[in-house]
Amino acid sequence: MNGREQTRRRYLMCEPKYFAVEYSINPWMNPDEPVSAELAVKQWTELADTYRRLGHRVDTIRPVPGLPDMVFAANSGTVVHGRVLGARFRARQRTAEADHFRRWFADHGYRDVVMPTATNEAEGDFAWTGQFLLAGTGFRTDPAAHAEAQEVLGVPVVSLRLVDPRYYHLDTALFVLEEASPTRPAHIAYYPDAFSPGSQRVLNHLFPNAVIATTADAECLGLNGVSDGRNVVLPIEATHLADQLINEGYDPTFVDISELRKSGGGPKCCTLEIRD
Ligand code: ARG
Repeated sequence: MNGREQTRRRYLMCEPKYFAVEYSINPWMNPDEPVSAELAVKQWTELADTYRRLGHRVDTIRPVPGLPDMVFAANSGTVVHGRVLGARFRARQRTAEADHFRRWFADHGYRDVVMPTATNEAEGDFAWTGQFLLAGTGFRTDPAAHAEAQEVLGVPVVSLRLVDPRYYHLDTALFVLEEASPTRPAHIAYYPDAFSPGSQRVLNHLFPNAVIATTADAECLGLNGVSDGRNVVLPIEATHLADQLINEGYDPTFVDISELRKSGGGPKCCTLEIRD
């Protein structure tokens, strides 16, 4: 299908100045394997520059020493229609990140930031389709946070169950390519095996025309992509997925995120979208 249209986005990102893999809270993280914060910064800078080159606005939050995962900004807030729902992390090592982001929003004109009572890893597990919020659970975000997000954000929430520990956040297994418009339903890409049988049926029912990713695409965190409706930022290894997207009228743009992947993150994990 042709005629894919880009819409300008606003992203919040956090430079991985203090990036490290000092603990392991997902199967990608091996504290014995060396990581370079310097290389992570280089790759992250490339990602931020890519967004700017595509015409998007990138805001940044100051990194905090001792919070090596703070680069994964997507986990720290969900913003829909200008309403901000903060985060509550499952792992104690990440707990403090939530309040830094709450303060960033408060300092940038968002008066009514709501902090959740249930465990909620924000856009790690929430994907906005333009019509409803797809919400993952199984490893991090508590199902109670789905109901809480529906109340706070005032949008319908569809719960999905993740079953493979490598795909511990929804955004490692699914992303939105094009938001729903009055004339078209949303278009997404996902990796079915990351979901329970019931959730696979739900996805198939809601998105019969979805792009179905291969195992190889999932294994390089290719589903952790960021789309503006036309340009799709992907890890360089996600070649099958890129070919499928080209056939569907999108323009893939590749970034190297190998260093951040050692912590289980990709382009989307580094990118919190502010939807005013
Ligand atoms: N090391 C981080 C964690 O396990 C990676 C988070 C990646 N973020 C994401 N949106 N999937 O919490």
